[in-house]
Amino acid sequence: MALGNGSRGGQGAAACVAVVAAAVAALLGAGAAAAAKFDDVVQPSWANDHMVYDGDLLKLRLDSNSGGGFVSKNKFLYGRAIADLKLVPGDSAGIVTAFYLSSAGDKHNEFDFEFLGNVTGEPYLLQTNLYIDGVGNREQRIDLWFDPTADFHTYAVLWNPSQVVFMVDDTPIRVYENRQNATVKGHHRHAGNGTTNGTATTPSPFPGPQPMAVYSSIWNADDWATQGGRVKTDWSHAPFEATFREVRVDGCAWAANATDTDAGEVARCSESSWGKEGRYWWKEKEMSELTVHQSHQLVWARAHHLVYDYCVDTDRIPVQPPECSGR
Ligand SMILES: *[C@@H]1O[C@H](CO)[C@@H](O)[C@H](O)[C@H]1NC(C)=O
Ligand SMILES: *[C@@H]1O[C@H](CO)[C@@H](O)[C@H](O)[C@H]1NC(C)=O
Ligand SMILES: *[C@@H]1O[C@H](CO)[C@@H](O)[C@H](O)[C@H]1NC(C)=O
Ligand SMILES: *[C@@H]1O[C@H](CO)[C@@H](O)[C@H](O)[C@H]1NC(C)=O
Ligand SMILES: *[C@@H]1O[C@H](CO)[C@@H](O)[C@H](O)[C@H]1NC(C)=O
Repeated sequence: MALGNGSRGGQGAAACVAVVAAAVAALLGAGAAAAAKFDDVVQPSWANDHMVYDGDLLKLRLDSNSGGGFVSKNKFLYGRAIADLKLVPGDSAGIVTAFYLSSAGDKHNEFDFEFLGNVTGEPYLLQTNLYIDGVGNREQRIDLWFDPTADFHTYAVLWNPSQVVFMVDDTPIRVYENRQNATVKGHHRHAGNGTTNGTATTPSPFPGPQPMAVYSSIWNADDWATQGGRVKTDWSHAPFEATFREVRVDGCAWAANATDTDAGEVARCSESSWGKEGRYWWKEKEMSELTVHQSHQLVWARAHHLVYDYCVDTDRIPVQPPECSGR
């Protein structure tokens, strides 16, 4: 099953320079206020002219020349990244809009939201994925309980040493726990490290302390995204635009002059006491697991909206990954 989590379309795609002049004109006009608001946080990562300001809003644009994307100006170790986002309306078949966190290098970690477009009137799917030490293949898909093109909704990733939580409007839709020292911690906690395979136990991996940047991009993925790739992008409906009202990161910002493996920065962002002086709220004790209410929300979201889970796709993944045990 091709889930197509691969290329972001961006870096390799040829940037379209033909409309740069038009984009600059737009930027100097109505977009000045929005530019100031978003400029503190993000910058274009490719095809600069396909990141467009419109009043208080920021848009990423896909046309037949190129998609577009942005990247955060800082890297972070732990925290929460949010996008207040409205997806491409109408015919969005073949189009993927992604909001994700990623570290750099071969052994990178990555936490993805990927919105898979559809033909007019048919629902988007929201795919999430995690890469740990360069290995992904952890896709889950949900349908949403609202139309993500009708209004803005908030998509967030919370990340601390205990868990990675994907949230949609404050409802957790996916939790990836650190089971590295799991013992019996509570009635809803799973005991043990991972899959028991005969006498051996395979530890459940958890993303290590690599600083991550926050990204978004829109690109043509009509080889896989919509109805398994059967429906192609209809370029007569271009340009396609995803619209942001806000992008915010509350996290421990990595020193700009430090390398990604700087031990001092790891210590500063991860070993400091929990929630010290309230500055690192994402690391406070109560952020180390879901509240009871959130656990119920997660159960609801999965029961009613989960449409694909790699953990139970034995055709594609015959040996159950260790992090899937006990679910
Ligand atoms: C695992 O245990 C160590 C040692 O007790 C502790 O410092 C660390 O915070 C624990 N990690 C998690 C994710 O609970
Ligand atoms: C989990 O694995 C670590 C090392 O991989 C080991 O030290 C620890 O005892 C294990 N914990 C449990 C509960 O099996
Ligand atoms: C379980 O053991 C079998 C046989 O030794 C091995 O082929 C398989 O890869 C193991 N699975 C895991 C998850 O370690
Ligand atoms: C698109 O709509 C079809 C028909 O309702 C549905 O089967 C599919 O899951 C939807 N989403 C995607 C991304 O194909
Ligand atoms: C980065 O700059 C700060 C302030 O100028 C300095 O204290 C720190 O040692 C530098 N760190 C590295 C890794 O160069």
